[in-house]
Amino acid sequence: MAISETYLDELISRSDIADVVGSYVNLSKRSGSNLFGLCPFHNEKTPSFSVSPEKQIYHCFGCGKGGGVINFIMEIEGLGFQDAVAFLARRAGMPPPEDGSSEETRSRRGRLLDLNKDAARFYYQVLNSPAGAEAMSYMQRRQIDAPTAVRFGLGAAPDAWTELLKAMKAKGYNEQEMFEAGLIKRGKNGGFYDTFRNRLMFPVIDIRGSVLGFSGRALGDSEPKYLNSPDTPVFNKSKNLFAINLAKKCKDGPFILCEGNIDVVSLHQAGFTGAVASLGTSLTSDQARLLSRYTDQVVLAYDGDAAGIKAADRAIKIFEQLGMKVRVLRINGAKDPDEYIKRFGADAFRNLIQGSPDKLDYQIAQIRAKYDVSSDAGRLSFLNDITVLLSQVSNSIEREVYAAKISEEMGVSKDAILSEAKKIISRRLRKQKQKTEQMNMRPGQNRQPADRDIRYTDPVSASAEEGVLRLLMLDPTLLPLTDDLKEGDFSSPFLFRVLTLIRKKLADHSDVTPATLCRDLTSSEASRLTAILDKPENISEGKKAMNDYLIKIRYRKIENETTQDLAQMAELIKKKKGMGIADE
Ligand code: CTP
Ligand code: MN
Repeated sequence: MAISETYLDELISRSDIADVVGSYVNLSKRSGSNLFGLCPFHNEKTPSFSVSPEKQIYHCFGCGKGGGVINFIMEIEGLGFQDAVAFLARRAGMPPPEDGSSEETRSRRGRLLDLNKDAARFYYQVLNSPAGAEAMSYMQRRQIDAPTAVRFGLGAAPDAWTELLKAMKAKGYNEQEMFEAGLIKRGKNGGFYDTFRNRLMFPVIDIRGSVLGFSGRALGDSEPKYLNSPDTPVFNKSKNLFAINLAKKCKDGPFILCEGNIDVVSLHQAGFTGAVASLGTSLTSDQARLLSRYTDQVVLAYDGDAAGIKAADRAIKIFEQLGMKVRVLRINGAKDPDEYIKRFGADAFRNLIQGSPDKLDYQIAQIRAKYDVSSDAGRLSFLNDITVLLSQVSNSIEREVYAAKISEEMGVSKDAILSEAKKIISRRLRKQKQKTEQMNMRPGQNRQPADRDIRYTDPVSASAEEGVLRLLMLDPTLLPLTDDLKEGDFSSPFLFRVLTLIRKKLADHSDVTPATLCRDLTSSEASRLTAILDKPENISEGKKAMNDYLIKIRYRKIENETTQDLAQMAELIKKKKGMGIADE
């Protein structure tokens, strides 16, 4: 019996791969955003087993085993899929999986998403009608222009108790469904009333364009200032980011994380289309992971108050764990990005970003705070930590600049600092060299073994097919473009299987991430997919990129068919000659 997708999504999100693997393998080494340890599946002395907390997958460069958290438990505990799921469920404190309900859950999710979309349409219409006049004038007061409002699908919840309820009833939804979607609440006397009233409405839309829930901004001073949809089967405040549906298309950044919905809207309007916000919670690792699918650099633009600074500290740690570069904006003369842009303009904000201290400055400040640098011992420990930090900086000029700064501050020569850092670097390089040499000496294991298992009939077309899969993962709204792709268009049944999986998951409204795909693949397939998804892809012009890939696939198909025909023709001519028949 199939276990429902929703259940598996929940299980995977509650079973962090670094935690799970960490209880079998010592993952003490780190390289970029990956953790490394000794592979539990083959004998080795130097770690080639990697875990990506960002992608929630593992992969051994030595023996090629890889996959998501469920694959790992199957492999290491020797369990079948069902048993591995039950095993992880116990570990995560979840009730055991129920069978059979999957169809039902799936259509229920689909129904709630339809309802949310209809509700968003309703709010949008209200905003542009007399009932939305107050919200409209509030919006104008906040200087949100009409095109921006359309881009965000902004709306207005009327100042009344049951307008949405009535409108959705007329569309065929029942109260149970509206209640489940968090759109209505139950009153003391048992009747239902609209959750959102007299508010400017911001739909929260995921990367596929589904409306998951809403944030409603009070029009005046009434509390709470922001009201968000409660957690529902389709909405979870701590897993989604406001405006990720727009930011995912942002060309080359910067990706900006801020606190409030209005900050995001203002930033987009001013041309900063990489702005997103968490929804009234401090940043979670799920949200950071979502962002890390699109960028490896982020600017934190939290409010300058004490709460904002604390939230920034937390967010930096979370992004660092994913190996992302973080800059921290110090906003002076305004309380948040929205106010700053209105007061000083977009250019000033751009300068602010450019001048914002990067992670290194921030880390140096943190190390400094750890020690009493007025004492010799404190200074020594400080410098020790600094050289380790500098040894991790790959750009030698950057190293030089920071060494000079520290040298001045601590009264130690710059060269001494640099030479200590370089010593650490060469030690590390020596170790790495030893490791690759060892790996190359193992016969047959110097390539990724998965490459041997999954062969491509046409490598040129395959690279385009892989691109199609990568694009779909990053922007599922491109799915309809690929409707015509058939099994015969693919260079290996494996790639087509991945496309089929993606199609199925999207049709079921379930999560499509490397980890959720891996759970339906064998270990070597999972390893192969990991490698494919690791290659860079730019989705700022996703549609065009997708069409280019599709053209390449079609073209190669025609070319291959023609080559085949020509070969057959040549064969025929040879035969004819052999039989003494002259060419016409
Ligand atoms: N908040 C929330 N849900 C949201 C957005 C914000 O609960 N969808 C919370 C924030 O966490 C913060 C408070 O509401 O505690 C105010 O958010 P902020 O962005 O600072 O709002 P202001 O700048 O005061 O108001 P505006 O967004 O209208 O500019
Ligand atoms: Mn504000």
